[in-house]
Amino acid sequence: MEIIILKNAERVAATGAELVSELLGARPDAVLGLATGSTQLALYRQLVERYVNGDISFRQATSFNLDEYLGISADNPQSYRAYMDKELFDHIDINKANTHLPACEEGQNPILVGPRYEQKISDAGGIDLQLVGIGGNGHIGFNEPSSSLGSRTRVKTLTRQTFKDNSRLFSENEVQPKLAITMGIATIMDARKILLLATGKNKAEAVSKMVEGPVSAMCPASVLQMHERVTVLLDEDAACGLKNRDYYDWTYLQNESLKKRFRTFHDE
Ligand code: F6R
Repeated sequence: MEIIILKNAERVAATGAELVSELLGARPDAVLGLATGSTQLALYRQLVERYVNGDISFRQATSFNLDEYLGISADNPQSYRAYMDKELFDHIDINKANTHLPACEEGQNPILVGPRYEQKISDAGGIDLQLVGIGGNGHIGFNEPSSSLGSRTRVKTLTRQTFKDNSRLFSENEVQPKLAITMGIATIMDARKILLLATGKNKAEAVSKMVEGPVSAMCPASVLQMHERVTVLLDEDAACGLKNRDYYDWTYLQNESLKKRFRTFHDE
């Protein structure tokens, strides 16, 4: 795991945007894995800014989101489709027909959505770069603690904690879903590169379990220790529980100087 600890959430977003931009520059038809949630908002703002400035284009890109609520339609402002349109897709040149979420249409059997989503990802050639956030309980996507580390896209029940964490985003008269369809852990692990962003003190415990704890289904994010190319971008607050902090900072400095000398160092 490459652990990069930055001064604040804004730097985390800017560094994330830089990595996405580098990929789009090298591969304009990249397949992006996207995430929702509060952490990604600043990153999406940065990407929109870069697009508006003419620095990047999504015209040939394809995207697959990690998850979507089950039981609310795409036009519900609480859906992850609505989030993606509002925060990113409506402001860039991506072809919306090439943006995918594991949504279950009215009348469709949700059990069938997962295998079809997996097929679509595979037909697109697999995901080049998967963005992920982390839940306070260590979830990635909606793979809650105890999710199979070999899981694929499927229906998941949110834990009470996740339900409570997300309740801040729902008003009293809105129905908050307890179910979602999420990429599985094995689906996420298939991505060629993974970029995890975490900011804020409320993520510190989950981050330390993910990076320094044992690989365990009780902290689904810990499985990322087994992936060959993971970059974790943290702000000081999210990194405050890490014991090996000094080593991560030291490694980052060495990697930066290697990158300057051999531009493609990270892509070899
Ligand atoms: C969102 C998702 C979730 C979030 C995680 C962190 O698509 O899959 O795993 O990334 O819950 O959410 P925030 O960023 O709101 O703290």
